[in-house]
Amino acid sequence: MRILLLTRSFNSLTQRLYVELATRGHEVSVEFDIADSVTEEAVALFRPDLVVAPFLKRAIPESVWRAHLCLIVHPGIVGDRGPSALDWAIQDGEAEWGVTVLQAEAEMDAGPVWAGETFPMRAATKSSLYRGEVTEAAVRAVLEAIERFASGSFVPQRVAPGAPGVRGRSRPLLKQQARAIDWQRDDTAAVLRKIAAADGVPGVLDSLFGVPCFLYDAHPAAAVPAAAGSVAARGGRAVLRATTDGAVWIGHCRRADRDGALKLPVALAFAGQWQQLPPADGYAEIRYAEHGPVGVLHFPFYNGAMSTVQCEELLAAYRAALARPTRALVLAGGPEFFSNGISLTVIEAADSPADESWRNIVAMDEVCRAVLETTDRITVAALQGNAGAGGCFLAFACDRVWARAGVILNPHYKNMGNLYGSEYWTYTLPRRVRQGEPRAVMENRLPVGGAQAARLGLVDRLLDAGRDRFLAQVLVEARALVEAADFDTLIAAKRARRAADEAQRPLAAYRDEELANMRRNFYGFDPSYHYARAHFVGKVPHAWTPLHLARHRRKGAV
Ligand code: COA
Repeated sequence: MRILLLTRSFNSLTQRLYVELATRGHEVSVEFDIADSVTEEAVALFRPDLVVAPFLKRAIPESVWRAHLCLIVHPGIVGDRGPSALDWAIQDGEAEWGVTVLQAEAEMDAGPVWAGETFPMRAATKSSLYRGEVTEAAVRAVLEAIERFASGSFVPQRVAPGAPGVRGRSRPLLKQQARAIDWQRDDTAAVLRKIAAADGVPGVLDSLFGVPCFLYDAHPAAAVPAAAGSVAARGGRAVLRATTDGAVWIGHCRRADRDGALKLPVALAFAGQWQQLPPADGYAEIRYAEHGPVGVLHFPFYNGAMSTVQCEELLAAYRAALARPTRALVLAGGPEFFSNGISLTVIEAADSPADESWRNIVAMDEVCRAVLETTDRITVAALQGNAGAGGCFLAFACDRVWARAGVILNPHYKNMGNLYGSEYWTYTLPRRVRQGEPRAVMENRLPVGGAQAARLGLVDRLLDAGRDRFLAQVLVEARALVEAADFDTLIAAKRARRAADEAQRPLAAYRDEELANMRRNFYGFDPSYHYARAHFVGKVPHAWTPLHLARHRRKGAV
């Protein structure tokens, strides 16, 4: 089928659907929802059999939904309506939630239902549920709806919110008033739930140090002897805030007193005040665990972004892990993302974004170098979540890349203003790519699904385990690897290969060449990277759909 994905942005769910539909042989093109006339033009150019809207904030123009079947993906159970579906579900503590695929009509979320899927809720942030359970359910529901459409015999039914046997209800936008934390009454669980329900966008409007700001990235903490609501200490780049029955760490915030303020680590958003706080233990962004001969480094950095200081801390943790008598070291990233590379928000907020970009990429390269120079044990990148740009190449620095089926990789830098990229990609990529040219991987600006990544050689193993069982499965596989009879031969071969590669061309030469290009990106005449970064972190709406996505707009497209 010719399927047009009409979406506000090419977000994780849209990327996953793109990959799933393309893998099944559909002809897929993408158009961003910019204006009704643009959507009409896209439909006229592409002549789709079906329009699928995974992520929309506005209604589809009537001229389009009257002429074509348009399927809307709604992140709520059947009968649910409204713009804050998942937010309400988390805040209300729903035990089960779901995704509905319905037909677009004049009223938002009110059309006949083509498919519905449910899943048990997990105590997690909105973004985590969206990238996890919602995405998996949406893929199942969209595929089912397409099958029903293809059958030609399915008649979708209208479902009225709150009708007998229908749990879904019509709910308004979840406003800040309803999200507000009452620090004198809300216990830790309630505080965490409210911040989780607003994760990503919009955050919970509150205040820190007497300044209004939106809060994100909260974690439970041990109780502190302080009045509920007061900021008691600092740890990592977070603050420790007392609740009625304990405390929470708050890692990120966005100041509401400044136009265009970015979401930043609290230590950066309130540098002066944060520094004055007493330090406290208990907040660890990086965690090391040992399972017999296998060491595992967890680094669940918020949004997968790795700032200079986080790279430095990861390098220190990596070196400490190397001092342990293990035979395999697993880089596990975080449950949401393996890594998304250097931290574009921290860079944007710096006095000199060019200088901070440089410091950050050098720190990132140091982590990759340490991994590449590890010759006494096997290194494994365990991709529980998606990886993008430099985050992919950090994974490729490992001997083995094992991914959870369903992860999406974006192994290219070009979407960030034609960034050349570093992380030793010029060394690792040609050694990995089995099919086609390494350059083609970098030039292709599209997401790569697990199966395709495995075919290309970017991923060595796809583990078909759910999110909750993936790491356990990785441990089983890693143990089998290090306990195999030929393990010593494997290590000897690895050492010999590294030595031969180094003799042929030192790692430093790859890095110097990459960094010479990056220096031009950061300091040269062409400001594309700086513009692209500012647009990305400022969430500037798209003015057009890039041609690598909108195939119907390419020259000669039919
Ligand atoms: N630095 C800072 N923030 C980042 C980031 C980075 N490198 N990568 C992602 N984020 C943030 C996004 O701004 C977004 O923030 P929000 O929670 O405030 O909405 C959040 O992470 C999720 O990103 P989003 O783009 O919504 O996720 P996605 O799964 O839809 O898309 C990517 C994934 C990787 C395609 C996309 O995030 C991306 O292009 N990131 C930039 C990668 C990059 O160029 N890195 C620098 C070069 S190494």
